Amino acid sequence: MNPPRSGGETPSRPVGKAPEKGYDDDRTTAPAGPSRSGQKFRTAHASPYINETRPLKNAMGKIILTGDRPTGRLHLGHYVGSLRRRVELQNSGEFERIFIMIADAQALTDNADNPEKVRQNIVEVALDYLSAGLDPARSTLFIQSQVPELCELAFYYMNLVTVQRLQRNPTVKAEITLRGFAEGAAEGDTTQRQGIPVGFFTYPISQASDITAFKATTVPAGEDQEPMIEQTREIVHKFNSVYGQTLVEPEILLPDNAACMRLPGTDGKAKMSKSLGNCIYLSDTAEEVRKKVMGMYTDPDHLRVEDPGKVEGNTVFTYLDAFSRPEHFSKYLPEYASLDELKAHYRRGGLGDVKVKRLLIAILNEMLDPIRERRRHYETRIGEVYDILREGSAKARAAAAETLADVRAAMKINYFDDRELIDGQTEHFKLKTEN
Ligand code: TRP
Repeated sequence: MNPPRSGGETPSRPVGKAPEKGYDDDRTTAPAGPSRSGQKFRTAHASPYINETRPLKNAMGKIILTGDRPTGRLHLGHYVGSLRRRVELQNSGEFERIFIMIADAQALTDNADNPEKVRQNIVEVALDYLSAGLDPARSTLFIQSQVPELCELAFYYMNLVTVQRLQRNPTVKAEITLRGFAEGAAEGDTTQRQGIPVGFFTYPISQASDITAFKATTVPAGEDQEPMIEQTREIVHKFNSVYGQTLVEPEILLPDNAACMRLPGTDGKAKMSKSLGNCIYLSDTAEEVRKKVMGMYTDPDHLRVEDPGKVEGNTVFTYLDAFSRPEHFSKYLPEYASLDELKAHYRRGGLGDVKVKRLLIAILNEMLDPIRERRRHYETRIGEVYDILREGSAKARAAAAETLADVRAAMKINYFDDRELIDGQTEHFKLKTEN
């Protein structure tokens, strides 16, 4: 039996033939830049570098690499921030290859003392991927640690990055504070808080390996990943200028709806986070979603239905910004033509929270139902899920090995394949013994 497919599929078409989407077909002739912004898919960072004219290997098509740390089930924040977009990109047929990575090795950089958590969450994240509509026939789903080539690349890239540059990475900085790494531990403290683990500190370099190993052009991710992509681009530029044109400079693809950039938790706090208990999970039942939405933070001053209410900072409306579509109104609340009308009524007063929450429940459950259906399919076939990951990891490994061979050749550490080197040395020592 085949798994139910996600909707909105378009038949795939020839790669690199989609100028209407604003993609340049050949990165070697069209440097990334501000001219590309404002298109359907928002990209960031104009390239400060003019690309060389030598064609890169993937000049034929665009390649996606992205992933998640397996430290918990994925929630709606992940869905609007990246997962939904990945499925759209997959179904657009515009990408030659798509790699989606479960970043277990990266998760271990700050969970070294809890490998079981990472291990358990691999299948959770894989189920979330598959149920969200990622299709193993079209996207390569793989596990980071099963591609050891990534470690070797990182080892070479480490020579191209300074400690000072890593220290300036704003995401790493924020995470160091968040994890309490920098506080230093009192003697005898057995927690991981004994300073900053080197592996954690250098994970942006490992992330550069993840991206470049697949010659990825495009990294769909949230804005917190921007500093990582920026560092990757610097590493690529440095590598190419030292060793010759080898690696591809990637671009981040940010979510295009402001409300999706960072979905707040159900309690109105800035971010959904497992530890705060303010998440709606992709794997939540309809009843769990109903309860969570009913308990959601709205406008604390909107006490009676007649009171005028605030829409800004009102989580229920933020979620409607992220999830509602015009057709939802005719379907669930025909007395309003649009979200703007609903907001206007709320602001005027006379509209109760419960009515707005019921709309959101209907919209979320409509969206989650097909996801739940696919999840049920795969939950009864866990062996198949691991097979998908195993095959994906083998494919990913083959792709990374090709890049690694290019990298070794560029760095001239491919001694045994280097006929010129061996012949040259032979000649050199022959002359030496003759004289
Ligand atoms: N840092 C990402 C996260 O926190 C996971 C990740 C690892 C990643 N390697 C990547 C994302 C490469 C995009 C590209 O979820």
